[in-house]
Formats: sequence, structure tokens, C-alpha cells
Amino acid sequence: MKIGFKGENFGEKLLLATRMLPEIAIMPFFSTIVGNAYLTAQRLKIFSLLEKNSMSVKDVAEKTEADEHGMRVLLEALTGFGYLERQSGKFQCSREFRKSLDGKMSEMARGMMIFAPDVAKKFENLDKAVKTGEVENFHFTPITPSSWSHYLTFLKSVSKEPTKALVKKVKFDTPPRKMLDIAGGPAQYSIAFCRKYHNLEATILDLPESSAEGETEIKKAELDGRITYITGNFFETDWGGDYDFALLSNMLHCLTVTQCQTVIKRTFESLIPGGLIVTNDVDFPGEDEEIEMFAGWSSLLYFMMTGSRTHPTPAIKKWMSDAGFTKIKKTKIRNSAQLIGIK
Ligand SMILES: C[S@@+](CC[C@H](N)C(=O)[O-])C[C@H]1O[C@@H](n2cnc3c(N)ncnc32)[C@H](O)[C@@H]1O
Repeated sequence: MKIGFKGENFGEKLLLATRMLPEIAIMPFFSTIVGNAYLTAQRLKIFSLLEKNSMSVKDVAEKTEADEHGMRVLLEALTGFGYLERQSGKFQCSREFRKSLDGKMSEMARGMMIFAPDVAKKFENLDKAVKTGEVENFHFTPITPSSWSHYLTFLKSVSKEPTKALVKKVKFDTPPRKMLDIAGGPAQYSIAFCRKYHNLEATILDLPESSAEGETEIKKAELDGRITYITGNFFETDWGGDYDFALLSNMLHCLTVTQCQTVIKRTFESLIPGGLIVTNDVDFPGEDEEIEMFAGWSSLLYFMMTGSRTHPTPAIKKWMSDAGFTKIKKTKIRNSAQLIGIK
């Protein structure tokens, strides 16, 4: 997937087709303004106000305690960007935007909207982070008091399709009975595996905020008793043992190289002989292979959120092999790679 311009009329389409527009050079200038307009609208709750109602500038300014002139310019710009539409001097969310918010992937759209301002706050420090290499891991230093709740909503919202796809992708010789879900978040993956394998019990390692949310999800799924948490920093907790399946989904990108190696070694120790390890993370290429947009995007996001990065898939494979895993195979689900190995 590439990010770029779409022509709005014949003249613009021609400019793009003939490459008369220096697209890649001017895109950041445009996307900065679009992105900031969107983030401010989200922070001021303008989209919630205008999702079901159409309102005048004056009313929106009053409700958001904003200046009328500033609000007018913002609402008009958001209309130009396609988020709002204007009729008889009143503004409301555009049909196109509402289709995203109510459509098949509405949960994902809303999850990203909710979390985006927290991410933007972290990105204010990109220059410093790149210069010093130092980033506060937001799991331990939350950005705002609501950022955990936004993050968990986001995690749940983006996992619906990927959990289904992963459960389909991972094949077992005999149905698994004891799963270790390392950094299992609000339990989405454990729930999906336990739904498929009726004799499976899962243990999730995660921090208190994720486990509190996960407990509620487990109850909703009527899986209490089959899925339990070991709550705390997994570098400090006892993981138990005798697992026949360990999942490390979207978590190595929170850890440094040394921490990844430690976690993979501990996973090896926690599994029974013949046990399966499955890693699942954005597929990042090895040296000199082409870096696609999503891989670069995710890596910079994880760097700014945790100080780590999206680790190259070949590096993860090597850490697994160094820990003793064999028969390591790579599979793919969209932009994510799974490495499946055996103890
Ligand atoms: C991106 S989420 C992944 C959640 C889930 N596995 C998934 O694939 O959607 C990363 C999770 O790692 C957890 N985490 C990060 N560092 C941790 C640590 N040191 N100990 C325990 N959990 C940790 C976070 O709380 C969060 O739930």
C-alpha cells in the first residue's frame, strides 16, 4: 500500500498521470495539515458532535468552547478534505466518512480514531528520539490518563479479522491443550484459540491494565475458568510450564533485541518437547530487501511508542533457531509474518 494523492478532477488526474506534480516531495506538506486538522477535530470531539447532527459554526464553536473564526476555518478545511460536508451553512460528517465509521470495518476505524491523538503526542518528540535513541515505553509511562483505555480499545478493534486468520493458519498435529499467550493483551487471541479448540486452556502474561480489560472480555466470551492471567511485567513473573503451544503476537516490537532473545529462550523452556512456538508481527524485510510502506510505518510507530522497532523477520527466525527451535516455517497473513517452530 502506498500513500499518495488522488486527483479530484480531470486536470489533477492528468497532472498525476503525467508526473507533473512532484507528489512524493509535496505530500508531507499536505498530509501534515490534513493530519493536524483531523487530530484537532478528534481532540475537540467535533466528529462525535457532527456524526448524527448538522450544526452551524457558531453552535460547534460554542459546544467546543472554541473561537468562531478558528472553528469556521477548521470546519471548511475538513470539508475540503472530505471529512465533513456543508449544506445551508451547516456542517456534518460526510457520507463517505460516515460509511467508514458505520461500515464493515467500523470498529477498526473508530479504534484508530480514538488512539491517534495519543500517538500524535508521542510523535511530537521524534527529533529528540532519533537524536538520543531514548523513548519512554508508553506501557510503563502512559501518555495521558486515558491512553491505556484508548490503546486497549484500539487493540481490540484491530484484532477481529487477524485473530480469525491466525487461528485458521496455525495447524496442529494434535489439538493443543495448554497455551501460553505472551503479552496476550485483552485476550483476543486466547479467546479465538479457545473457541476453536474446546479442550484448550490458556494462560496470558500481561500488565495489569491489559489483564483487567481481558478479564471482562473472557467473561463476555463465557470462557472464564479456561483462560487466566499471570499479571505483571513478564520479566519479573513466573510463567509456569508444560505448555504445548506458545503465542508471541505483536509483542516482540515492544522489546529490545536482547529482551526478544531472552523471551524466546524462556518460551523454549516453558514448552514441552514437540511444543509449538508461533510469532506473529508485521513482516519486516532483512538487509537490502525492499522496505514497504506498512513495514516502515509500523517500525517508526513502535519506536516512538516503546523505543523498540519492528524487528526484521529473518532476525526473529535466527533468535528462534539460536534458542533451539527447529523446522521454522514462515507464513503470511496480509502484512504480518508468522514464524512457526517446534521445540
Ligand atoms: C501490541 S500489544 C499485543 C497484544 C496481543 N498479543 C495482540 O497481538 O494483539 C502488546 C502487549 O504487550 C504487553 N506488554 C508489553 N510489555 C510487557 C511486559 N514487559 N510485560 C507484560 N506485558 C507487556 C502490553 O501490555 C500489551 O498488551
